[in-house]
Amino acid sequence: MALKRMTAHEAARLIKDGDNVGFSGFTHAGCPKAVPRALAALAEEEHAAGRPFKIGMFTGASTGDSIDGALARAGAVKFRTPYQTTGDMRAAINAGQVEYFDVHLSTLAQDLRYGFYGPVDVAIIEACDVTDDGQIVPTVGVGISPTLCRLAGTVIVELNSRHPRELRGIHDLTQIADPPNRRDTGITGVRDRIGKDHIAVGPAKIVVVEVDEPNEGSGFAPVDEVTHRIGENVARFFVAEMKTGRIPTSFLPIQSGVGNIANAVLAALAECPDIPDLEVYTEVIQDAVIDMLESGRVRFASGSSLTVSNPCMDRIYARLPFFKERILLRTTEFSNNPEIVRRLGIIAMNTALEADIFGNVNSTNVMGSKIMNGVGGSGDFTRAAYQSIFLTPSTAKGGKISAFVPMVSHTDHSEHDVKVVISEYGVADLRGKSPRQRAETIIENCVHPDYRPLLRACLDSGAKGHTPVNLHTAFAFHKAFMETGDMHNAEV
Ligand code: COA
Repeated sequence: MALKRMTAHEAARLIKDGDNVGFSGFTHAGCPKAVPRALAALAEEEHAAGRPFKIGMFTGASTGDSIDGALARAGAVKFRTPYQTTGDMRAAINAGQVEYFDVHLSTLAQDLRYGFYGPVDVAIIEACDVTDDGQIVPTVGVGISPTLCRLAGTVIVELNSRHPRELRGIHDLTQIADPPNRRDTGITGVRDRIGKDHIAVGPAKIVVVEVDEPNEGSGFAPVDEVTHRIGENVARFFVAEMKTGRIPTSFLPIQSGVGNIANAVLAALAECPDIPDLEVYTEVIQDAVIDMLESGRVRFASGSSLTVSNPCMDRIYARLPFFKERILLRTTEFSNNPEIVRRLGIIAMNTALEADIFGNVNSTNVMGSKIMNGVGGSGDFTRAAYQSIFLTPSTAKGGKISAFVPMVSHTDHSEHDVKVVISEYGVADLRGKSPRQRAETIIENCVHPDYRPLLRACLDSGAKGHTPVNLHTAFAFHKAFMETGDMHNAEV
């Protein structure tokens, strides 16, 4: 029997006020666009008619402007989870208009299956192919799509002709069995496949909307001097670790976080002749990994999405057979699975918004209260990794913010998980060090010279106990920024 077909406008009308909607994809990659935009337009019509219209949102991670941007601008979101990066959604959350809860990406699919967050009424899934017997082939971002398709009463497939059907085979699609039936994932190497090349859905609940929509990938900031120096410091650290035998000469799989800094660090690793060709077991595959696959510096990359710029996407499609042999796209509960991360001995590199002198890291809340993006997968990798590294420029906002503070204003990753911190000034290896030793190492090696005397003063005035924190000045840097716009004015 042929699948039902509709326009985006008609499909959006299947969604009712109060429904929980799951969106496919991971970052802008693999996200539907036309139906969410039609949904935002529907919400605006309903609001104009004086009727309420808000949905709950489940996504793999951040999305593109057609989902987070359009729905936030339309005032159409009741709650949202997990990671997000769109300016309008961020503003709506920080204004208290959207209830946002930030969970580790590896856990969302199981949390939905456990029923923690209520039902998934409708799933909207971008696909490059869908067959009459209900095989859905996602595009370039997987996220939590298999679970959304399983739980949703209606699955709207946005069939996007910009993505070739030949993508089939790049994915490894399965779900983890829930307790008490959970077993070993069976993944013992970066290239291992355990699932199917499609998501199987009962055809009766599928509605197909045909579209021709470009990706919403905007690309990355060019490598500047600071990010280049961070990258060089990472490369030097790895070379030293290989010399001591702590990293084998064959290397270990790497995970690299989202954003400009992660992209720049990978580029620096590619340039370092003493680092062997790598395997990548990560969450987002960004442009730098594609460059490294082409040059042979990366041998294989496993992730949950191709979070690449549009020109980079065109390059991938022009040589799809080459990339399909070297890339695997998994659901987030596998790409970020702590069991697999620990088994493979992954070297995790994520970016901090701020770190304190004891090695606690804030990745999410600016000045402790304003959400930036979310914890994403950084926690999935950090706790379980062989080596957990946090990267950050030593300052932000033209030097008026020190990325190193007496105490973080919000904690995502604690001193118990953070092994190494790297800025453009150097490397603080925190392994085997007490809190005072950690503080001395971070101040000496990573902090911007302007802020070193202030942080030394905080440390010297700290309590005499095991962790020499001074509670009277713990937030002096943040206070100075909020009152004067410059952390240099901190009174310690
Ligand atoms: N206080 C206030 N703002 C800060 C700041 C601080 N301590 N440190 C950085 N910023 C601002 C920067 O100025 C920049 O602002 P802009 O967008 O207005 O220019 C913004 O934060 C992004 O910083 P940038 O230096 O460009 O780094 P990035 O693009 O690499 O992003 C994070 C850094 C922390 C926001 C990003 O990596 C993130 O969301 N991490 C959490 C999730 C994660 O780690 N996922 C990976 C798991 S696989």
